[in-house]
Amino acid sequence: MTAETADLAETLSADELASLQLERLQWTLRHAYENVPLYRKKFTEAGVHPDDCRELGDLAKFPFTTKADLRESYPFGMFAVPQEKIRRLHASSGTTGKPTVVGYTEDDLDTWATVMARSIRAAGGRPGHKVHVAYGYGLFTGGLGAHYGAEKLGCTVIPASGGMTARQVQLITDFEPEIIMITPSYMLTLLDEFERQGVDPRASSLKVGIFGAEPWTEQMRGEIEERFALDAVDIYGLSEVMGPGVAQECVETKDGLHIWEDHFFPEVIDPFTEQVLPEGERGELLFTSLTKQALPIIRYRTRDLTRLLPGTARPAFRRMEKVTGRSDDLIILRGVNVFPTQIEEIVLRTEGLSPHFQLVRTTRGRLDHLTVRVEARADATAEARTAAAAMVAAGVKDGVGVSVSVEVVDPDTLERSLGKMRRVLDERS
Ligand code: DLL
Repeated sequence: MTAETADLAETLSADELASLQLERLQWTLRHAYENVPLYRKKFTEAGVHPDDCRELGDLAKFPFTTKADLRESYPFGMFAVPQEKIRRLHASSGTTGKPTVVGYTEDDLDTWATVMARSIRAAGGRPGHKVHVAYGYGLFTGGLGAHYGAEKLGCTVIPASGGMTARQVQLITDFEPEIIMITPSYMLTLLDEFERQGVDPRASSLKVGIFGAEPWTEQMRGEIEERFALDAVDIYGLSEVMGPGVAQECVETKDGLHIWEDHFFPEVIDPFTEQVLPEGERGELLFTSLTKQALPIIRYRTRDLTRLLPGTARPAFRRMEKVTGRSDDLIILRGVNVFPTQIEEIVLRTEGLSPHFQLVRTTRGRLDHLTVRVEARADATAEARTAAAAMVAAGVKDGVGVSVSVEVVDPDTLERSLGKMRRVLDERS
């Protein structure tokens, strides 16, 4: 498939899409059942068979797949094709224990490049554009996923990968890319480096930034767009389902991410009752792959929290609201749920503060305590810092409903991101 034929999928009617999805879903369930012992076992235990899927809604009868299933099948136990058909492996680092390994056949790699090309196009990329890829290359899916998609669209790729920040600024200045693909937190690190080198970020050639791999807020969009004079759009994906390019925000609307539903079927469930929720209700996002050969994935529990919305700029494809948190990032502080993105919103709307912050969890007495550690902007006076600290504390108390401490620290003192940012430091005893 070329980028042009991929775009044909974007013009499918709702009925055409639904019948394509059903056909592909039935194939996927059979493929998983016949070739992956774990799926056969799980289906059997749940009393379902691929033949029980007669309409899309029947998917709800099938069991979930979790990260634990992949870990227990480490490394290749969930692959549905012989090893010689696997052209590439990726793996996610995983904070504890073994990494999660994923594999791709030649067709899978082609599908991935197709959905990534479609994503870059929806973000405003066109053949002939130069695309600076600052997602990490390697076992992480970000760099290579973006790379092959940009090539497939007909762009010139600058495979910068992550790190060596001073050189990134040099490359952007000299090669003049229109597009950058990077985590939003690493973009902030680049911003510092532009300023350190005395280069005006607003004067750079960049027109569009395609940001993902971690949660980021509307406030962060505003900050990055303003400081770089570019359009900032969101890209979503996860290695278990493919990598980047599962869903993409369109530059015309910037209203959430269109899910490429001809390849990835979404559901949202209540994470506690595990029942499927209707469109518009918030819960945990699940994905079922529709075309993947090497690693078919059925009802994968992403742990990402969002809701489904109808399509806009690409009417055939439903949108998912920006992911503002995943259950893993949730801090439960004295019974109150706190997501780092809620703090990000408050920090970014507070005068005198930079977007660089971290959340530090400690124990005080027998209680959990949370400190927001945030850098002042370079021009903030001592009075402005004190006022800002009080405003953040009050903002968190009013908006989130919990008391936190706020430490406003000097510019350039907090750890900088080189990829996915570690927002929460756990120093509890
Ligand atoms: O982060 C794939 C990716 C690379 C996506 C580059 C976008 C850009 P994993 O390392 O497997 O894959 O991590 C997947 O990252 O479940 C979300 O929790 C989070 N995530 C990814 N994109 C977004 C986003 C890549 N746009 C996990 N907004 C996912 C919020 C995101 N969270």
